[in-house]
Amino acid sequence: MNARPPMTPPTRTQVGIVGAGPAGLLLSHLLYLEGIESVVLEARTREYCETRVRAGVLEHGTARLLDAAGVGARMRREGLVHHGIVFRFGGRDHRIDLSGLTGGRTITVYAQHEIVKDLIAARRDAGGAIVFEAENVSLHHLDGSAPTIRYRAGGEARELACDFVAGCDGFHGISRSSIPPDALTVYDHHYPFAWLGILARVPPASEELIYARHDHGFALLSMRTREISRLYLQCDPGAELDRWPDHLVWDELRCRLERPDGWALRDGPILQKGITDMRSFVVDPMRHGRLFLAGDAAHIVPPTGAKGLNLAAADVRVLVQALAAFYKERRTDLLDGYSDTCLRRVWKVQRFSWWMTSMLHRGGGGAFADQIQLAELDYVTGSRAASAALAENYVGLPFD
Ligand code: APR
Ligand code: PHB
Repeated sequence: MNARPPMTPPTRTQVGIVGAGPAGLLLSHLLYLEGIESVVLEARTREYCETRVRAGVLEHGTARLLDAAGVGARMRREGLVHHGIVFRFGGRDHRIDLSGLTGGRTITVYAQHEIVKDLIAARRDAGGAIVFEAENVSLHHLDGSAPTIRYRAGGEARELACDFVAGCDGFHGISRSSIPPDALTVYDHHYPFAWLGILARVPPASEELIYARHDHGFALLSMRTREISRLYLQCDPGAELDRWPDHLVWDELRCRLERPDGWALRDGPILQKGITDMRSFVVDPMRHGRLFLAGDAAHIVPPTGAKGLNLAAADVRVLVQALAAFYKERRTDLLDGYSDTCLRRVWKVQRFSWWMTSMLHRGGGGAFADQIQLAELDYVTGSRAASAALAENYVGLPFD
């Protein structure tokens, strides 16, 4: 790893980026490849960003975007390429041939924090400015042509002057809340369940991801490597972790993933355990003056479709094209169209994630709703047309 000494943060740049998650870092690196300067301001430490367990499934287009950014080598070496996923219900498996139904497109299983590690290393190697542990970040003059970002670092108050600000600071960041509430339309939908997720040191019990619909609730078998499994089960919203001791988690996973032919889920040491709320959230517009929101700062999807990271990458792709057109040709049409362009995809991805969530989780809708769910799963996995529609959304809708 290249340990260049931290530079004194610049006081002027072209694009000021708040947040060193996948959105902020990918944006900074793609801008660099376009010859556009940026500075990333991140509240947490480098170590925190590089170790935070989050998502791990990359769409076909996202994997190619990382390749294009020159940060795909380790993903290609260590990531797991999958050509299908499995739906398990009624004790039987139904495989969706993703590649066969989408002209060869695939998904890649590669952890989000590994992508963050690769991007930080690439920024460092390129001499990119990332200020970790930046405190009290605040945005100013967003309505003019010279926005500034104020923050504290190294115990000193600092100010960064820039042409544009990219709010890539996630759902709990300050960027979205820097926009006057009456300038935003907020769409917010909560689901009556949550996910309990574990990371376990046990080889995945399946080559491909298994989405299980069971009378006890949803379960998902995923993985990180050939030695590390990632599993989730539906639990009550607000469930407490200490009510889910490891043995109970494994018992419930075994029960929901059971198959009458003796297929077995082996357990192992649980390395990490957490509960995630399920929510669909969108703000419109994703731009306010010189501030452009990207990723979780603008939208949250329930994790059932594995879309959060991919949607962040899709936003960044549109923003880089718009900023490049501005700096190279002084065009403002793509900047002006940024929000609408992103939101078209955001809503399609919201629909898919909501649909997958509704089809696979027990929501207390009663016996009729249960039968509809089973019929939907039976139709989707039995009809080539319906499987193709699912596969197209799962591997990632083509970029406009
Ligand atoms: N100042 C500076 N940095 C901040 C602030 C702040 N006030 N608030 C948050 N941040 C940082 C966080 O510490 C985090 O590193 O912004 C970063 C936001 O990163 P993410 O939450 O990962 O958001 P994003 O880059 O949009 O990636 C979206 O992350 O959460 C997953 O499922 C989600 O996969 C999706 C992806
Ligand atoms: C994961 O591996 O973390 C994962 C996979 C598929 C999903 C959600 C999460 O739908």
